[in-house]
Amino acid sequence: MSPSVPSDDPREGPVLVVDFGAQYAQLIARRVREAHVYSEIVPHAASAAELAARRPAGIILSGGPKSVNEDPAPSIDPAVYDLGIPILGICYGAQLLTQQLGGEVARTGRGEYGRTPLSMTAASPIFSDWPEAAEVWMSHGDAITGVPDGFVATASSPDAPVAALHDPDRGIFGVQFHPEVVHTEHGRDLLERFLYDICHCPPSWTHTSIIESQVAAVRAQVGSSPVLCALSGGVDSAVAAALVHKAIGEQLTCVYVDTGLMRANESEQVEETFRRQFHIDLVHVKAADRFFEALAGVTDPETKRKIIGELFIRIFEEVARDLVVEKGNLDADGVADDEPAGYLVQGTLYPDVIESGSGTAATIKSHHNVGGLPDDLAFDLVEPLRLLFKDEVRAVGEELGLPHEIVWRQPFPGPGLAVRIVGEVTPERAQILRAADAIVVEEVRKAGLYRDLWQSFAVLPAVRTVGVMGDGRTYAYPVVIRAVTSDDAMTADWARLPYDLLERFSSRIINEVDGVNRVALDITSKPPGTIEWE
Ligand code: XMP
Repeated sequence: MSPSVPSDDPREGPVLVVDFGAQYAQLIARRVREAHVYSEIVPHAASAAELAARRPAGIILSGGPKSVNEDPAPSIDPAVYDLGIPILGICYGAQLLTQQLGGEVARTGRGEYGRTPLSMTAASPIFSDWPEAAEVWMSHGDAITGVPDGFVATASSPDAPVAALHDPDRGIFGVQFHPEVVHTEHGRDLLERFLYDICHCPPSWTHTSIIESQVAAVRAQVGSSPVLCALSGGVDSAVAAALVHKAIGEQLTCVYVDTGLMRANESEQVEETFRRQFHIDLVHVKAADRFFEALAGVTDPETKRKIIGELFIRIFEEVARDLVVEKGNLDADGVADDEPAGYLVQGTLYPDVIESGSGTAATIKSHHNVGGLPDDLAFDLVEPLRLLFKDEVRAVGEELGLPHEIVWRQPFPGPGLAVRIVGEVTPERAQILRAADAIVVEEVRKAGLYRDLWQSFAVLPAVRTVGVMGDGRTYAYPVVIRAVTSDDAMTADWARLPYDLLERFSSRIINEVDGVNRVALDITSKPPGTIEWE
């Protein structure tokens, strides 16, 4: 599937965000899309010809962690400045274009970090919505001290004599500050002026247009072949399934494997949404017994993960073979003809595509998205979300009519509750943990904090502690509450939850969940802790 928005009009090509490291590019690309303009991230090593071949409406050079005065510092093919395509350099990007076009970037020894006052020194079309002075977010050590020929300095700050510059003839702009961060007043206005007035991009990247283009792409890709989708209960597979179903209706079969390690009501919700609301052909495999049997006596976290992953694949493979023999292009002995036996839907997202490096081939993710299927099943992948950021996936999910509860569900690990039971996983422990977890989720929702928290859940360390209830001693499990804030799960902080909420967790879990006599709170950030306990 081509990631580009197809068009004969060069102005409708993507805005390319050139990546100079440290994820600055992702935020810029998201902001561009929030202005309803399609953007893609490209590596800085791409040649000017490669960039031009994408017929971009504009190019944004992102910030980056290096200094242009370091050797080596990431650079870009200077021929890009002669393509006649509008360019906006941000922070590192502004310094790079200054240096490459013959201006001066000096190590002044006086950097600026955080909120900084900015004053306009000359008119610039990207500042047309700005007042004379505004607060912007800076993060730089070097500063632009001389503009290249043909450029004018248009703004300054206390320690950046040239905080913005542009070449009106070539449509090349640079800003030392970060318009993409929320702390920059009018940052969004600046990006919109660049996109709408300079690049002449129409604001046409909407959730409706995403759905329309992906529906067309899925139809074109799969023709009349059968398509399978493994549902996990999570948002990505749910949105991918709903989108593919909109495209090809009954050609889609969803497979939901209940491992016995799901959250409370997850299986019912999948049934309700996909079978009853969307009328999707759903195979619900109730496999809890097989998973508990395979996990009996196992305590090592990695071994648990491996067992669950392998069993999941085996079960999925059994179902897939039956279905493809029944509906598709596969002999009864399970061997495909020349054509693909069918297609498999993957909920790969744009950040996975970028991280895989090439921007074209995301490797199949670990088992929760179904990896490692045997070659002779000859599935091709359908990845209808591979251009989208998570927030776009959620918006598309809402637009497709998926329930809020699925669309806004907090992330849940593929191996499920098994990695939240420290020790052997048994049906009894899974049941205790599921009940405690449901209380945590319910109370967090009631407190209005569910969307503010990255994850909030219960953990069951399989040790017993002594307690007292009524007249007697108890010897039961503790439950640990884990609640974190995070942007991307790479780092996380423990959430400062109100005491009265903690109180409700404690009293409800101990009163309502048999087998628990103690509630504790995990106050470890990541690093050094991980979010999950195993
Ligand atoms: P950690 O525990 O490494 O988790 O801080 C980071 C994020 O990843 C999720 N997680 C997993 N997701 N399969 C998954 O699909 C797994 O094996 C797995 N382990 C952790 C975790 O919930 C958190 O959002």
